Amino acid sequence: MRHLLALRELSPQEITDLLDLAELSAVAGRGEQLSGTTLATLFYEPSTRTEISFELAARKLGAGVVRCDVDRSSVQKGESLVDTVRTLAGLGADAIAIRHPSAGAAHLAAAHVRCAVINAGDGMHEHPTQGLLDLLTVRRAKGRIAGLRIAVVGDVRHSRVARSAAWGFSKLGGSVVAVGPATLLPTPGDGLPLHLTTSLRVGLEGADVVMVLRMQRERQAGGDVPTLAEYTRGWGVNSQVLRAARPDAILMHPGPANLGIELTADAAYGPQSRIAAQVAAGVDVRMAVLAWALGRERLLRPSLARRRDRRKTFVANGLLEFDQSRTQTPLAEPASTIRND
Ligand code: CP
Repeated sequence: MRHLLALRELSPQEITDLLDLAELSAVAGRGEQLSGTTLATLFYEPSTRTEISFELAARKLGAGVVRCDVDRSSVQKGESLVDTVRTLAGLGADAIAIRHPSAGAAHLAAAHVRCAVINAGDGMHEHPTQGLLDLLTVRRAKGRIAGLRIAVVGDVRHSRVARSAAWGFSKLGGSVVAVGPATLLPTPGDGLPLHLTTSLRVGLEGADVVMVLRMQRERQAGGDVPTLAEYTRGWGVNSQVLRAARPDAILMHPGPANLGIELTADAAYGPQSRIAAQVAAGVDVRMAVLAWALGRERLLRPSLARRRDRRKTFVANGLLEFDQSRTQTPLAEPASTIRND
């Protein structure tokens, strides 16, 4: 039994192994690898993609799933997080996927139960399965992570998605630049492996991946941006803006997107968009994470015949045809400095 709480805590090899396991999961399809186990989902914040893909992933591998509906649970009578997770574990959950508005909630839960705890997003801290599916989407599109430049645009300061992306991409040799108004960038020197710039043009220049973030109005203090219209004028991404990145750059967004604010529909549904691919990768990643957390990953290893299928899938996804000649592109400015040009 293992917890998945943050990509910061995983080694590059562990991250790569989980991505490889996700590819095997995609090939394995439906099975009984998690037969006899139960996943409990415990979401204190709304979710479409994460909660449903955890459910689908668990069911595809033969696990039972129970959803703890926080709005109708004893949380409404004042039950603590620790008591809730201890109760779910006591009722027989083998794994709990937890989303909570407080950073550190998943760590707190993991310290109090014997079952596996998977962080499905904790406040402004991390969203490790989102980070893994973002890595998988890029690896499928580009064949590698090392040497790529990833521009993360928008409300980076409040974003757990950006934190997991920063750790995940940098551990695998990518270079991550955060782009946005200074009020929405992390504090320089806070230890995140990011370069910072307030200039959309500078941030997108040479980017292989443009990851746009949702404006998280529920986490922002009033006054982070004068108005949403001014944010959109300065940092909104559309098809025209995307031309500042490499011609073969891909566009990503973790969802849900505020179309017309941080991203326009023409870009979100355009040829460079991999947003739908991110959603699909979420199921593969969560199958892998559940099997890994529950110690069943060996059951996903393919037979010789499946190995051949896997190779076909890798070729179809471009994974065996990538160009290794490009090396990491250093940014002009030193890490954790803000440029205002
Ligand atoms: N990306 C993400 O976490 O989406 P949901 O909030 O819909 O789960």
